[in-house]
Amino acid sequence: MCGIVGVIGKENTVDILINGLQKLEYRGYDSAGVYVNDQNGHDYLVKTKGRIADLKKAIGPEVKGTMGIGHTRWATHGIPSDVNAHPHVSADGRFYLVHNGVINNYAELRDQYLQGVHLVSQTDTEVVVQLVDYFATNEQLSGKEAFRKTVQLLDGSYAFLLVDREDPDTLYVAKNKSPLLIGVGNGFNVVCSDAMAMVGQTKDFVELHDGELVTVKKDGIAIETLAGKAVTRKSYHVSINESDTEKGTYPFYMLKEIDEQPAVMRTLLQKYLDDAGKPKIETDLLKALNQADRLYILAAGTSYNAGLVAKSIFEKLANIPTEVQLASEFGYNTPLLSKKPFFLFLSQSGETADSRQVLVKVNQWGYPSLTITNSEGSTLSREATYTMLLDAGPEIAVASTKAYTAQIALQTILAKALGDVRQQTTATDFDVKGQLSIVANEMQSLVDEKELINSLAKNYLATTRNAFYIGRGYDFAVSLEAALKLKEISYVQAEGFAGAELKHGTISLIEDGTPVMAIITDKRVASHTRGNIQEVKARGAHVLTIAMDSVAQPEDNITFSDVDPMLTPLLTVVPAQLLAYYTSLNRGYDVDKPRNLAKAVTVE
Ligand code: F6R
Repeated sequence: MCGIVGVIGKENTVDILINGLQKLEYRGYDSAGVYVNDQNGHDYLVKTKGRIADLKKAIGPEVKGTMGIGHTRWATHGIPSDVNAHPHVSADGRFYLVHNGVINNYAELRDQYLQGVHLVSQTDTEVVVQLVDYFATNEQLSGKEAFRKTVQLLDGSYAFLLVDREDPDTLYVAKNKSPLLIGVGNGFNVVCSDAMAMVGQTKDFVELHDGELVTVKKDGIAIETLAGKAVTRKSYHVSINESDTEKGTYPFYMLKEIDEQPAVMRTLLQKYLDDAGKPKIETDLLKALNQADRLYILAAGTSYNAGLVAKSIFEKLANIPTEVQLASEFGYNTPLLSKKPFFLFLSQSGETADSRQVLVKVNQWGYPSLTITNSEGSTLSREATYTMLLDAGPEIAVASTKAYTAQIALQTILAKALGDVRQQTTATDFDVKGQLSIVANEMQSLVDEKELINSLAKNYLATTRNAFYIGRGYDFAVSLEAALKLKEISYVQAEGFAGAELKHGTISLIEDGTPVMAIITDKRVASHTRGNIQEVKARGAHVLTIAMDSVAQPEDNITFSDVDPMLTPLLTVVPAQLLAYYTSLNRGYDVDKPRNLAKAVTVE
């Protein structure tokens, strides 16, 4: 979390930095700041608690430069405040630094080297910039060498951008674990945490690897390892357009992204299925999957919830035993592995540190892996054996919506492909193209029910402090995601439950008026879930139902046409996303930027 940007060789540096930071605000919005230098003896540091809009207000007309760095913060060490905002500056005003990541040994380094230095913030980052200054001053090292020496001492994750006021023709860059890209321009260069921040400037980016140090000037970049070995790497071209990152006429990105879901389904159909509906999947990937005796799906948050849905789909269509694990737990409490495991990483951002630490281990163990991600060129995609892109377009709202449905749809296509190879009749008989096309149409009908869902949100969730989602099978998996959506953006304490489980304890929380949303799509257990509804109603619950037509009853609140049971999560989640959206909106919250959260979680 935290987003960083840098630019060198442009007249309108402040605008470029601010625009870039706005695109990265999803990575954190506790405070923001810029440092710019006109390379002619004038420089400015402006930083403030709050959002980019607050920073913009704080920047006066005199603030101009031809190079600079910027930062938007998700606080780790130290509260959100002006003083803890980046860029941080060394005591003598020579070095300016922005940082995304966490330095684990900052306290030890501070105690060892900086006893005489007065630190003004509570951040780990300030220790780093003071260390650079310490080595430059006490060991007479150049700015670059002082930076190298400092970085070599660090234990933790970082993407750094450093400016040495004595050498304002250069930006110094270093990276370990946190994402960072160099954008290559004609007579200028930019640096950013995510290409989205700079696609208005250039579409050509160079990825950086851990342990690299880069010298960026306006007319060239030089990459080297920390040991000083030169590295050459070609740039790659990204296809994102700046307009894809705008919200157009929508009040919030989240609503735009919910609305985009039918189109995302159709894009996946076009990309991954041929005219006859046969999956188009890399042969080597299918071969590797077919050789596996167990599939391990690793993910966090919403992506984990998408994995829970996909587990049943892989097992049903491809007959492959599948486990879904929280990446943060798996890495340090690794279960007994099967003989031939295959690892599937699900990550919208492709940058989640919890998932990455597992992938690093998987690579050390030598097992094959696939990353399914929405972010081309992201760390998880680069480091896995195979990558499949969701092509859902940038997801900017912090609450994930279209990435969840895209992950489920793409895993269904992959499971169908593997099942075809394994000649599973469940797969060969499954018309994935026809079914996903029906899903896309039904999704459209559901996203068009905004008025109804807004009124249900007002009626059921306007003031409540807690709520429950219940369901069985696929509906249980969706209940977990539905509850997460409600929690994260509307601050309603919500829980998703297997319908039968409430009576084993949690039913004690049901009081007069407690909202319980029931999802009902599975014929085999619909009557049981209806029974669970009666149990909570008898205790005063205010029950809202989302049901598929074949199991629907006249009193159900939201219904939709039948689709294959496996694909019901793609539909039942849509009203849940909208319920969360309208609850947040009606309560007056910032839907896209819920408190305490950031989108790409690049710390463990
Ligand atoms: C919730 C949400 C998070 C992410 C989680 C993993 O709406 O977006 O729970 O799903 O932080 O992120 P990715 O998918 O980028 O690895």
